[in-house]
Amino acid sequence: MPDQLIAGNWKMHGTVAWSLALVEELKHRNLDALNAEVCICPPFTALYAVHQALRGTEIKLGAQDVFWKDQGAYTSQIAPPMLTELGVSYVIIGHSETRGRFGVPEPDFTDEILRHFGENDATVNLKVKAALLHGLTPIICVGETLAERQAGQTDAVITAQVKRDLQGLDPAEIGCLVFAYEPVWAIGTGEVCDAPEANRVCALIRRIATELCGEENAQGLRVLYGGSVKPDNAHDLLAQPHIDGALVGGASLSAASFAEIVSHAHKIANHRNNGA
Ligand code: PGA
Repeated sequence: MPDQLIAGNWKMHGTVAWSLALVEELKHRNLDALNAEVCICPPFTALYAVHQALRGTEIKLGAQDVFWKDQGAYTSQIAPPMLTELGVSYVIIGHSETRGRFGVPEPDFTDEILRHFGENDATVNLKVKAALLHGLTPIICVGETLAERQAGQTDAVITAQVKRDLQGLDPAEIGCLVFAYEPVWAIGTGEVCDAPEANRVCALIRRIATELCGEENAQGLRVLYGGSVKPDNAHDLLAQPHIDGALVGGASLSAASFAEIVSHAHKIANHRNNGA
């Protein structure tokens, strides 16, 4: 079983100076010695400096979004080659803070300007294909809103998102992907999805992807959980059999709490490696 992936999504936090200070703190915690793959996703503006600072460590660099064209008149957008040039290996795609559902009344979204960047499954699909073409590993975020969960639509929403996001991909490409199950109501709210339910939805995501790519390709697929992961709930979540890691927002902004989450993944890996 591959190591779990613990990815830190810094969101719109971190000037270059602040980012470098956090990287120094992470380096002091010697995460390389732990049995877990670690990735940090700073804002675009800090990627270059963080890449330099991470030299000599095993910590991977991720970006928070990518555009699907290589270049052109797309003001404000960042192309895949601009990321690979900076040593980026992972890219978050389809985060709920960038997805928007224009034209559909969404009580959860109406007064949340941050969720109106217009991302949808069609653009996620284009971005996933472009990222793969350039050797970037997408971390595709899917998740239901509170209204959808309360209406009993969770599985239907997740199924539709996964299928649309993967449309037209080769089976072998699907096997290289990372998904993050991020219930929208659990992001930044402190309200975590309980571990067995997070495990159930992560298993559903794996099942749908496996149907599309076959058992053999699906061996390489990873399904993370994200949404208010903290040091005190990380063990329960990461110990679930169908959860292959975590996408951590708020708790990744502190070296101490992020390192503690990574150390939970390490303990679980050791436990599993010892055949327990
Ligand atoms: P959170 O964010 O851990 O602060 O809830 C997770 C995410 O948005 O990826």
